[in-house]
Amino acid sequence: MKVQIDDKEFTCFLKHEKIIDRCRELGQQMNEDLKNSTPIFIGVLNGSFLFLADLMKEVSIPAEISFIKVSSYSGQTSSSGVVKSVMGLNDSIKGRDVVIVEDIIDTGITLTFLIEEVKKMQPASIRICSLLFKPDALKRDIGKVDYVGFEIPNEFVVGYGLDYKELGRNLKDIYRFIAE
Ligand code: XMP
Ligand code: MG
Repeated sequence: MKVQIDDKEFTCFLKHEKIIDRCRELGQQMNEDLKNSTPIFIGVLNGSFLFLADLMKEVSIPAEISFIKVSSYSGQTSSSGVVKSVMGLNDSIKGRDVVIVEDIIDTGITLTFLIEEVKKMQPASIRICSLLFKPDALKRDIGKVDYVGFEIPNEFVVGYGLDYKELGRNLKDIYRFIAE
């Protein structure tokens, strides 16, 4: 199936059902790994809002949920390489096990920046969870990503929280850009 978003056409890549199945597997793994903890899950806005919602339905250990917002790309299909700011971090994560929940790791620039900012708040531990991971696009040493939904090729994707020019976040499935 294809969708038109603004001036670009995208083709279906990951069906919603497959994403939900993977959320279940990741949630079960987290329940095991964090069974003796009450972690704080931090969703990175805007892209992770649907993933975090579906993931948290599968997390049955006691957990807190919070959000942070960073700005990097703006309406483009490639990285500007600049992360400007983080909003929403506060002292409540001091001494806690933190799980950062991202929509996608591309160059790794956003995540590197985020980890440094979270570390300043002195959490007990930091785990990384990303729905999507583009290994071929990576430009930073981000270490181990604890939870990856799907490794994908280095193509621009949209849907299920991810946007093209702020559109398409409400698509249930994930679509990839078809280059002409
Ligand atoms: P970096 O390059 O810092 O990118 O790892 C992470 C952030 O960039 C956005 N991003 C995308 N957004 N489709 C999108 O809609 C993509 O294919 C894509 N690649 C990167 C995203 O906001 C992510 O948090
Ligand atoms: Mg975006």
